[in-house]
Amino acid sequence: VVEHTFNVATLSLPRICQPGNTSVTAVNGRVPGPQVEAREGDTVVIHVINDSPYNVTVHWHGVFQRGTPWADGPAMVTQCPIRPGHRYTYRFAVAGQEGTLWWHAHSSYMRATVYGALVIRPRRAGGYPFPTPYEEKTVLLGEWWNGDPVALESQSFSTGIPAPNADAYTINGMPGDSYLCPETTNRIAKFEVRRDKTYLLRIINAALNTAFFFKVAGHTFTVVAADASYTEPYATDVIVIAPGQTVDALMAADASPGCYHMAISSYQSAIPFPPRPAGFNGNTSTAVVEYVDATATTDAGSPVLPVMPKPNDTYTANQFYTSLTALIRPGRRTVPLTVDTRMLVTVGLGFSSCQPEQTQCNRSAPVVLANMNNVSFALPNTVSMLEALYRNTADGVYTRDFPDQPPVAFDYTSRGLLGNSPLASTGSPSTKVKTLRYNATVEMVLQNTALVGLESHPMHLHGFNFFVVAQGFGNNNGEAAGAGEFNLVNPQERNTVAVPTGGWAVIRFVADNPGMWAMHCHIDSHFAIGLAMVFEVESGPTPGTTLPPPPPDLPQC
Ligand code: C2O
Repeated sequence: VVEHTFNVATLSLPRICQPGNTSVTAVNGRVPGPQVEAREGDTVVIHVINDSPYNVTVHWHGVFQRGTPWADGPAMVTQCPIRPGHRYTYRFAVAGQEGTLWWHAHSSYMRATVYGALVIRPRRAGGYPFPTPYEEKTVLLGEWWNGDPVALESQSFSTGIPAPNADAYTINGMPGDSYLCPETTNRIAKFEVRRDKTYLLRIINAALNTAFFFKVAGHTFTVVAADASYTEPYATDVIVIAPGQTVDALMAADASPGCYHMAISSYQSAIPFPPRPAGFNGNTSTAVVEYVDATATTDAGSPVLPVMPKPNDTYTANQFYTSLTALIRPGRRTVPLTVDTRMLVTVGLGFSSCQPEQTQCNRSAPVVLANMNNVSFALPNTVSMLEALYRNTADGVYTRDFPDQPPVAFDYTSRGLLGNSPLASTGSPSTKVKTLRYNATVEMVLQNTALVGLESHPMHLHGFNFFVVAQGFGNNNGEAAGAGEFNLVNPQERNTVAVPTGGWAVIRFVADNPGMWAMHCHIDSHFAIGLAMVFEVESGPTPGTTLPPPPPDLPQC
């Protein structure tokens, strides 16, 4: 049993590039929060004590939660939030998965500062399917605002203007020194390495809204896992990582001794308007990789910088994502070869006169809302969806009519004609689920509409991994990718797929865990305006496959 106490409270931290401090919400007085380390098969017990002034929940991103749906964490989906002054204990097993996952707040924008790593090692020390690394290093990528992110979100809801871009990107909570801002130069993460040793980098994109390119000058990587699923080793000098995704990569310290920059740069600004200004909140952040056991041949004061791809380098992103395949090894899960539930789901943004997460549609000027199959998702506010399912009180909380198809066939070629596509105008937000029978094999085509805003949507599924059997560009109206083009042999297994800009991805999964499982864009500014839906997975026929009762300390609304 791995046990931790998470004290959630207000913390004062220095602003970046501005004088003074700002108040954020943090776990145990630090950002990022504590790293949870377990072995496959362990039980994890986390006591969350909320001493902050906000409602909070914690989600264990990528954990299957088999038989523990009440511990998943998304606010109003599987639980009411933990109110200020209250507590809740999350108890779950980490089984059938190894690698790097993470945890984060799942209420409002609070995960900007409430997040940390969750590392699941093999049962047997060093039991990796690759040579045991000399050391492991966690690399948490984030975003930082000089204001309170929770306040920024409510402000954006009331004005209809998207929350501003982050003031900086961070690596392990620090902005690095990528822009001319003298007071931040000592706030840079440092990774010490020894020459000729190999390191396992556990890279997590915890940013709210930004997908990153990741590089280390003078070094290359071998990717060995993504989203805590082993991959066929893949050699690359650039890693692409969308919000919610993780990548485990081996890095050999085989360069000439010295100092090298690790850098992240944005892969498509999540909010294309207004354009991200260069300069202060520029497009890269850095850390330092320093050789400690040899005389440096480069000056520690001026580390070598990697050359980063351009923000719109879709080619590099596509190359990375389509090169990953699952590692074939005994006991691995395999892709379902037959499908009994088929869905074609558009994901994207549209214009609306409605308020996010509410049924009112009284804005005078249309604002941007997000949708899946033209349904903008609203969280319920009186009871969580899982409780409504358990107590048979779904009426008035959610409806079971999430559509299997978009209302009109999506056509990428007419995407310029905004006014002509019903997919570009989103109606009143609602709470719709797709009901799946226990053990259903599901195939979903996710089509990125890119009608408003050109960006890749990192679609995350709670409670399950899925197989990414195909992805591509243009229209996929169900016929475009025949089964012949699917990888049904060794497709990568993930919990978050970056649906390409102007393209699509096809995923498959088996609904073998009863409960309420959210699927949503892991760009928080999209999730908050409705880019979400929920799967209601029915109970199975045998004991152990039914919905368990809620724990006695489940928070009440
Ligand atoms: Cu990592 Cu629903 O989130």
